[in-house]
Amino acid sequence: MKRQGEDERFFTDFGGRFHGRLSAVVPARRGLGEATQTTGTAAQCRCLIKVEYHPDLMGLLEEGMLVAVKNFKPRTREGGERYTLMEVSRVWPIHYGLSGLSDQSYYPMQFEIIQQSESDWRREDSSVMMIEMTAVPINYDLIIYPDREEPEFKKGFSYPIPASEAHILNERMIHLMYNKSIIEKLGIRMKELTEEARGNPRLGVIKMFEAEESRIPLFIDFENLVRYHFGVFAFTGGGKSNLLSNILRRILYHTPDIKVVLFDISCEYPFLLLDILTDPSIPSKVILENRVESAEQLFNTTVKPRRYEDDRRALRGYELLLEEGRVGFYTKPRYVVPTYGDFLSQLKAQRGQSSDRPHYLDAINVIERAILGYMEEHGLTEDMRVDEAFVRYIDGVATEAVNQFRVSEKSGLYSWATTRSSLLEVIKMSRKEKAERRGGYSVEQILDLLEGEERLICISIADSVTIKELVIQLTRAMLARRKRRFQVKPYILFVFDEAQEFIPDMQSSGVDRRCSKQVETLLRQGRKYGLGGCVATQRLAYLNTNALQQLHTYFIGTLPRPYDRSLISSTFMIDEGILERTLEFAPGEWLLSSFIATGMENVPIFLRADNAEDELEAFLSRL
Ligand SMILES: Nc1ncnc2c1ncn2[C@@H]1O[C@H](COP(=O)(O)OP(=O)(O)O)[C@@H](O)[C@H]1O
Ligand SMILES: [Mg+2]
Repeated sequence: MKRQGEDERFFTDFGGRFHGRLSAVVPARRGLGEATQTTGTAAQCRCLIKVEYHPDLMGLLEEGMLVAVKNFKPRTREGGERYTLMEVSRVWPIHYGLSGLSDQSYYPMQFEIIQQSESDWRREDSSVMMIEMTAVPINYDLIIYPDREEPEFKKGFSYPIPASEAHILNERMIHLMYNKSIIEKLGIRMKELTEEARGNPRLGVIKMFEAEESRIPLFIDFENLVRYHFGVFAFTGGGKSNLLSNILRRILYHTPDIKVVLFDISCEYPFLLLDILTDPSIPSKVILENRVESAEQLFNTTVKPRRYEDDRRALRGYELLLEEGRVGFYTKPRYVVPTYGDFLSQLKAQRGQSSDRPHYLDAINVIERAILGYMEEHGLTEDMRVDEAFVRYIDGVATEAVNQFRVSEKSGLYSWATTRSSLLEVIKMSRKEKAERRGGYSVEQILDLLEGEERLICISIADSVTIKELVIQLTRAMLARRKRRFQVKPYILFVFDEAQEFIPDMQSSGVDRRCSKQVETLLRQGRKYGLGGCVATQRLAYLNTNALQQLHTYFIGTLPRPYDRSLISSTFMIDEGILERTLEFAPGEWLLSSFIATGMENVPIFLRADNAEDELEAFLSRL
């Protein structure tokens, strides 16, 4: 019946057990009424596939598998045959006797029929039983050429031919589709991969062909993941933090220079990334709210997964962290030395107040030219802090200018110009403060760390106002630096776990609103400057949707609320039928879809992520 040998290269029929045909194609409804407005209709249509019954099949078929059905497009010039690809969204068995059972019929008869059907399921009998599947087109054609080894994937929707045979893509094809281009780009050598994260850049395995104990790895393009932003969405306990630490670990091991700044309001990453944070080959810092002196203190103030709550081995890890000088704390400086830019904008303010007095403006022009000349001569930029030599110089210039142009002694300009030398004291005090502040880091020093060799900065601060202020200042300053220098590399990834804290919707006010706006700006503009963002959260309602729309890759776990799912479906164009499957996920199982970082553009795939706790377990037992 089938040309076995040829199909086997691309398709599987599970050892002759699968025979299915496309029985109906139902165009997707859209645009009518309220319900469809909030429902994402990414797919053109839904397909129904009927499969001859075999007792093993229910254990073998899985949601997420890809099916190919011949379509109406003619063969290509080279004779390539075209198939429409679709993703299985639901599989269920039906029984002729059971489905014909009427609720009205005599009750003992109902039970009789039900009981008799029980043994039917174990028989290979396609006369009374069948398996049905629904599938959603993924907007790709598969083209198989008669004289070429590898097939081709072509973007676009083609109408499948009803009644044609349905073919399930085999493991090799799935691996090829999702991984081939990434393996090439990352230069992965499959034979040399090991089990641990250090020797393997995979995020986990594709949740498919599991009954056959297949383990297809899943690789991702880290640069595109970072640069085009990503989101992680699942209810509490769904494995968000675990996945993030898994992803960050692989990014740090398997890219040469991507840096990470992690905003950790729940203080769980000093443990979740303890192996990385103590790794001598990866320079890193943990920045806490207050000075910490002992490992015991760290042990008590950081959060650990339940099974490690009382595990004393972590103490040894924290000792290492302290010994290596990798723990610091955040300090707001009391003495702030102005930058050259500050000087120029102060002068600009004076100009505004003196617009009706030309001789004041003359004085201002002289001072401004002196500042700009000094900066140019010494190769200084506006973001640099002034030093003593400059203050002495400009103090002289300014005093002379206001006297020369007869600026009134009572004016604001006069007092500004004649008091610049007071900055000498501020510079001295600031220097003293820095020397005394052992282990303390200001915003500027954190930025300097990022410009140095540090690759991971984990900011574990539970006070929400403090950490939000830091988010605002750090991201704003980083964007400004990059813009000024037209710099794109190294890429820096800013991670916001518990993102509902950082990107609330615009109903919020005060620091919440400012923080949300600033993160939105980072996501909007960062791509141009090599600054990426990641948001992880358990609820999508009440979030800044402008920020969410910037994400190009998403990991979706169980979201119990229908509203959250329909928001995901409409924001990210993921079919609701596929999204519904996430309700059955265990922690660590994800639906992954990406416009840019996976091998297939916007084709959702089910992923079983590697458990980050395995890495930690291995690390702790080595201590
Ligand atoms: N990939 C995984 N494999 C196995 N178990 C996992 C995985 N990810 C998470 N878990 C389990 O789920 C628990 C909760 O994970 P966590 O990352 O803290 O969830 P969230 O941050 O979403 O609240 C973990 O302690 C772990 O036991
Ligand atoms: Mg978490």
